Amino acid sequence: MALSAKMIVDKDFAIGQVDDRLYGSFIEHLGRAVYGGIFEPGHPEADDRGFRRDVLRMVKELRVPIVRYPGGNFVSGYDWKDGIGPVENRPRRLELAWRTVEPNRFGLNEFADWAKAADSSVMWAINLGTQGIEDARNVVEYANHPSGSYWSDLRVSHGYREPHRIKTWCLGNEMDGPWQIGHKTAEEYGRIALEAAKVMKWTDPSIELVACGSSGLGMATFAEWEATVLDHTYEHVDYLSLHTYYGNADNDTPTFLARSLQMDDFIRSVSAICDYVKAKKRSKKTMYLSFDEWNVWFHSHESDKKLEPWQVAPPQLEDVYTMEDALVVGCMLISLLKHSDRVRIACLAQLVNVIAPIMTENGGAAWAQTIYYPYMHASLYGRGRALVPLVQSPKYDTKEITDVPYLESVAVHNEESGEITIFAVNRSLDEELRFEADLRSFGACSLIEHLVLDHADLKAVNTAADPARVSPRAGGSAKVDGSRVGASLAKASWNVIRLRVEP
Ligand code: AHR
Repeated sequence: MALSAKMIVDKDFAIGQVDDRLYGSFIEHLGRAVYGGIFEPGHPEADDRGFRRDVLRMVKELRVPIVRYPGGNFVSGYDWKDGIGPVENRPRRLELAWRTVEPNRFGLNEFADWAKAADSSVMWAINLGTQGIEDARNVVEYANHPSGSYWSDLRVSHGYREPHRIKTWCLGNEMDGPWQIGHKTAEEYGRIALEAAKVMKWTDPSIELVACGSSGLGMATFAEWEATVLDHTYEHVDYLSLHTYYGNADNDTPTFLARSLQMDDFIRSVSAICDYVKAKKRSKKTMYLSFDEWNVWFHSHESDKKLEPWQVAPPQLEDVYTMEDALVVGCMLISLLKHSDRVRIACLAQLVNVIAPIMTENGGAAWAQTIYYPYMHASLYGRGRALVPLVQSPKYDTKEITDVPYLESVAVHNEESGEITIFAVNRSLDEELRFEADLRSFGACSLIEHLVLDHADLKAVNTAADPARVSPRAGGSAKVDGSRVGASLAKASWNVIRLRVEP
């Protein structure tokens, strides 16, 4: 018998308003993300600042609202002062996180300019590995104070009269990880994060702060880390971070496609810990979450081990994404939307060349990887109110994960445009899925389009030579009858069903 599944949504049962920053991304000084990615003076597409216009066009097409910068592991050894002032005076440094040489041709002001050119905003991560509260307050003063103080006047002297007004700041990166430069215990990190938060907010009370949660659900210190860090920082920070990456090294695709259920668990668990600390402190404040690193990452692990150290911008973490990776990214986006009442910020890690939706050749072309498309669809059509999805779906088990629904789905209602968008993944590798959506209280709807991303070969990829091998097609089978939507979802497919609510 054919697989069939159903989703019911109701206008009044909303998860919440989706924060646009759910569609954020990340640029680290790592590999060719900056040099050869967003910045390549001399490239035929470079503007007078060295920003690649072809890359900017693609970033704008993705409508990326916020970009985390400058790391990542990089930030824990980075002196932000190396990246300001006349370029010819900036030092070349050994970069210990990724064992490269950092030339510092690009820094805070250049990134602020780039983000503006990309119609985006900056999420700045401070170094709490080798630096402390002095640099934490100084970088806020440099970036955000109007003028009339040492650091703000220095910025003005560097040609930036107007402050950058960076609103969102990360208090370090993955400080629970032994691989981190300046790794800390939860107690040590909680204390320094609190003291940094105080001086940063005293310097600019309008900013928001993200404290580091665990760098993954599998960390031995998970849960205790969150509870201890929040015990110190609860009333001083606005978000707690989560990071996760999934891979399919053992080629077990049913399990790989089910990984987003672990993302759901991770978010639920961290929310529970936040609420535990809230209760313990008798606080009125709700802690929101910043899922500021998430993606598929495993293809490049082996080739990265073979790279010579101490190069400038070597091709690190250059995962070439397959069709099945795009499905996992689609499921992860649906997971973020299903928790958008709690997750306010999320950053697809990363944006260009380094585990990224956009790939470039030095001196050559830029193209979209497979994962570009679900990310773009969610960013363009996933803004509005996410609706509670009541899903009835047949399920499957894998050795590791049980009760995996074949259908992963959520709907977003954009009241302004009068549109509803259904995002749906059919996880079945063998069968089409008969899909029905009951939109009840919306009344009559009409179909705008049904976009489908699928491919006969789940390992198909896009390359410079064949950049559109995996790309979405219009003309999916969705039909609308009043407030009922019926479609046949192709096996292993990502679907975007866009509807107009009839007035
Ligand atoms: O995004 C790549 C790396 O993954 C980041 O530098 C680090 O924070 C995480 O471990």
